[in-house]
Amino acid sequence: SEKTIIAPSVLSADFARLGEEVETVCRAGADWIHLDVMDGHFVPNITFGPPVVKAIRSRTDKVFDCHLMIAPADPFLGAFADAGSDIITVHAEATTHLDRSLQAIRDLGCKAGVSLNPSTPESVVEYVLDRLDLILLMTVNPGFGGQAFIPSVVEKVRRVKSMIGSRPIHIEIDGGVTPETAPLVAAAGADVLVAGSAVFKGGSEEAYARNIAAIRAA
Ligand code: DX5
Ligand code: ZN
Repeated sequence: SEKTIIAPSVLSADFARLGEEVETVCRAGADWIHLDVMDGHFVPNITFGPPVVKAIRSRTDKVFDCHLMIAPADPFLGAFADAGSDIITVHAEATTHLDRSLQAIRDLGCKAGVSLNPSTPESVVEYVLDRLDLILLMTVNPGFGGQAFIPSVVEKVRRVKSMIGSRPIHIEIDGGVTPETAPLVAAAGADVLVAGSAVFKGGSEEAYARNIAAIRAA
């Protein structure tokens, strides 16, 4: 819808031209830039770290939404904040002391997010709601772009929406978001949609603009 935030994941961009890709996708209508950080340990893939985030920071003023799929996360929070992250999201499954990690992120001046894998129950966030700015619900098992949306998570979106009540917490969806799946999660209460392959297919500004518009219209 109009006010749904679209956050393209640069995981599906051309890494050889990452700075330009960020500029292009912002011109094409991206609201936030979603940055998938993977360590080859918590998830079976490796992407990039703080130096790359820092290198592309100057290309846009849009929100940098950093999704850390790393374990441990705590030793690197400062580096991701210094690199220019606006939001730092850690995985509940990768963090032993979630309450402490969330406090640390806010102490660094960033918004704090927690991400849940598809199999993780929403109850893990129940006692940290007042430390949270965003809850990221994975609709694929993290590690790769281009995977199929897991529909059972739609019910979890509904439950999280009712759990957060009137708190100003974003509900973000990540994995397999397309014009077909976007309406399911938006209707359930999600207000931020990450999309990688569905945005970057086509490889041109016109294609990105069309792809973003199609998700928004859905
Ligand atoms: C998966 C990442 C996602 C991924 C989404 O581990 O967290 O952000 O890039 O890609 P698509 O939209 O292609 O499923
Ligand atoms: Zn992500």
